[in-house]
Amino acid sequence: MSKSIAANPSGEDSKAPLINQRTVIITLFVVAAVSCLFLYHSANPFEFLPRSSAYDVIAPSMKAQKSSNDPSLEKILKRAAMGDNTVIITTLNQAWAEPNSIFDIFLESFRTGNGTGKLLDHLVVVALDSKALDHCLSTHPHCYALNTSGLDFSGKEAYFMTSSYLEMMWIRIRLLSDVLAMGYNFVFTDADIVWLQNPFQRFDPDADFQIACDRFSGNSFNLRNEPNGGFNYVKSNNRTIEFYKFWYNSRKMFPGLHDQDVLNEIKFDPYIQKIQVKIRFLDTKYIAGFCQVSQDFNAVCTMHANCCFGLEAKITDLRLALEDWRNFMELPPDQKSLPRSWTVPKKCRETPFHPPDESPNSLPPAAPKISAQEGNNQ
Ligand SMILES: *[C@@H]1O[C@H](CO)[C@@H](O)[C@H](O)[C@H]1NC(C)=O
Ligand SMILES: *[C@@H]1O[C@H](CO)[C@@H](O)[C@H](O)[C@H]1NC(C)=O
Ligand SMILES: *[C@@H]1O[C@H](CO)[C@@H](O)[C@H](O)[C@H]1NC(C)=O
Repeated sequence: MSKSIAANPSGEDSKAPLINQRTVIITLFVVAAVSCLFLYHSANPFEFLPRSSAYDVIAPSMKAQKSSNDPSLEKILKRAAMGDNTVIITTLNQAWAEPNSIFDIFLESFRTGNGTGKLLDHLVVVALDSKALDHCLSTHPHCYALNTSGLDFSGKEAYFMTSSYLEMMWIRIRLLSDVLAMGYNFVFTDADIVWLQNPFQRFDPDADFQIACDRFSGNSFNLRNEPNGGFNYVKSNNRTIEFYKFWYNSRKMFPGLHDQDVLNEIKFDPYIQKIQVKIRFLDTKYIAGFCQVSQDFNAVCTMHANCCFGLEAKITDLRLALEDWRNFMELPPDQKSLPRSWTVPKKCRETPFHPPDESPNSLPPAAPKISAQEGNNQ
């Protein structure tokens, strides 16, 4: 087509070339405009939306709470941080904070684990309701009360995939995003994980974002691994700050999905490559769970009660996992390298894995209905 323009520079020799020339100019213009739109689109897929629409999807309580400027959070992080500005963070609600419930087993695991006791000094507990806060304050030095007014997270059963559960998952991402922006690296850990050995020795020093898997493919770079948002290690830098913003904002593209499913949707997004965030998946040999237990007691660092539904089942099996660990540690050194298996998952395997019926008591009154998604393991 450019040839025809060159052959008829004046554009007056005949009508046909003139039409061609116009067509070319219009076509070029359209192509340029469309590709600009595309480039712009892929560079920042949400930038074209008005600011207010991003703001609207933020839970009402989060609008009120500008936790990124919350001096009390910053103070707690500073007090709890390791020398390199790393903290360990978990969230806690009333049901998990009951005496002898998940949180007590979680704390006990640090004291039972090999070299994990000192990590408790760096653990920040984010309480989601006042009972959880009270229990935290009575057992642990670093407790932060997240203002969740308007939302009720105190529900008994695991409220898995109910709308309040969903809301909590996203508040967590928002909070962690703020923590990164404040310059702190973190290990986020669900409280239904027992810490048996120090996981820091197993993290890749080159990676930005490292996340546990329900099932590990054998390759920590493979984006097709099934991540589990219940455990991750994230370094604070430009890439991770942008990544968490993108993740949180992607929520509105996938209404009703929780953070882990949205992560699975966005992990192949070209924008992730553009910001060059280095994502790694953690081997279940070290960062294990009931979905795929570690076969190697010498290597295992953490064990998550994933692929498990129900508070009672989780409590029973996490206790058993700690007992397995104690028995292992008591073995004479020459027997520690022998093959050995876990007694878990036991009750978690017996209990059907499905979300509870949404009972009126377990939901905040005005909570929007969402449809249950299958295949989630919390
Ligand atoms: C928590 O947020 C609500 C608004 O949702 C606000 O009215 C209240 O004062 C906040 N509480 C604290 C302690 O900041
Ligand atoms: C990236 O982070 C560094 C500090 O680590 C900062 O100096 C720099 O300005 C940031 N770059 C961008 C593009 O934000
Ligand atoms: C406990 O941790 C230390 C240091 O990481 C390690 O050398 C030792 O082998 C561990 N013990 C067991 C039983 O795994």
